[in-house]
Amino acid sequence: MSLLTEKRMAEIKNHLKKRTVTLPDDTFLPSLGQGTWRIGENPKLRDKEIKALRLGLELGMTLIDTAEMYGNGDSEELVGEAIKGLREDVFLVSKVYPHHASLDMISTACENSLKRLGTDHLDLYLLHWRGRVPLAETIEGMEKLKKEGKILRWGVSNFDTDDMNELWNTPNGRNCMINQVLYHLGSRGIDFDLLPWHREQDMPIMAYSPLAQGGSLRSQLISDPIVKEMAAKYNVKPLQIALAWVLRTNDVMAIPKSVQEQHVIQNAEAATIQFTEEDLNRLDDVFPKPRKKMPLDII
Ligand SMILES: NC(=O)c1ccc[n+]([C@@H]2O[C@H](COP(=O)([O-])OP(=O)(O)OC[C@H]3O[C@@H](n4cnc5c(N)ncnc54)[C@H](OP(=O)(O)O)[C@@H]3O)[C@@H](O)[C@H]2O)c1
Repeated sequence: MSLLTEKRMAEIKNHLKKRTVTLPDDTFLPSLGQGTWRIGENPKLRDKEIKALRLGLELGMTLIDTAEMYGNGDSEELVGEAIKGLREDVFLVSKVYPHHASLDMISTACENSLKRLGTDHLDLYLLHWRGRVPLAETIEGMEKLKKEGKILRWGVSNFDTDDMNELWNTPNGRNCMINQVLYHLGSRGIDFDLLPWHREQDMPIMAYSPLAQGGSLRSQLISDPIVKEMAAKYNVKPLQIALAWVLRTNDVMAIPKSVQEQHVIQNAEAATIQFTEEDLNRLDDVFPKPRKKMPLDII
C-alpha cells in the first residue's frame, strides 16, 4: 500500500521545489538531500535502501551524498544502482579520503568513485576532512579534475573557520563551493563564527547528521518539552522539528540519512514547516547559540 496519496506527494514536491540554496557559481541545490553513510553494507537491506533513495528522489530530495569511505565503496555502488536511468535528475556528491587527496592520487580515487557510481562525472567532489596533503596540492588536483570534466565543482568537509581562512588565501581556494559540517539543534558550535564566515562569503553550508544521528543527544532533543510542544503544534514528530530547524534559513541545506520510507516522507515533510520568529526564539532558549568559540564537532 502506498504511504502517501498522490495529492500529498504533489504538495510535498511543490514545497521542496521552492526550498533551495544557491552555490557561489549560482547553481541551485535542493535544501534537503539524502545521506548514505552505512548504506550498501548489508546485502539483505539492498532493495529497501534503493527503494528509500528512489522515493526521496521522487519527493524532490535530489541531492545524494556519498563517499569513497562509506563501506569502502559499497555505498557508492548502491547509489549507482539506485540512480541508474535517473542520473540527469540527481545532484551527485562524493568525497575523497584526505590520504587520496594528493595530486598523484586524487585522479585514481575519483575514477574509482565514478566507476562505482556508474557515471562519468560528479556534480560536487568534497575533501572529506583535512589531512596531511597541503591544501594547495588538493586544490590543484580538484581544478585538474574540473578541467577534465570528471567533476563539475568541488568543496570541503569538516573545515573550521581557520581552515576556511587558509583555503581562502590559497591559490584557487575561492573556487570552493560548500563546506559540509555537522550541524543540528543540539550542536550549534558553527553558529558562533563558521556560519557567519560563510554568510560573509555567500557560501552555503551542507549540514550532516542533521537528525543528531542517534545516541543520548538525540534522546535529549526529542524528549525536550519545547520540542515536543512544537511537534504537537505542527502535528509532526520531534525529530521533524529538529530537521526543520536546520533548514530554517536559505543558506544551510541538510542531508539526513534514512532507509525507511516512512522516515524519508517525514524528512521531506519537515522541509514544509515554516517556524515563526517566536518558535525560533523558544528553541533558542532551550538550545542556545554558543557565546564563545567551540571546536568543530566531527563524527
Ligand atoms: N562529512 C562527514 O564527515 C560526514 C559525517 C557524518 C555523516 N555525513 C553525511 O551526512 C549524512 C547524514 O548524517 P548521519 O547519517 O550521520 O545521521 P542523521 O541523518 O542525523 O541520522 C541518521 C539516523 O536517523 C534515522 N532517521 C532518519 N530519518 C528519521 C526520521 N524521520 N525519524 C526517526 N529516525 C530517522 C536513520 O535511521 P533509518 O535509516 O532507519 O531511517 C539513521 O539511524 C550521512 O549519511 C552522510 O552522507 C558526513
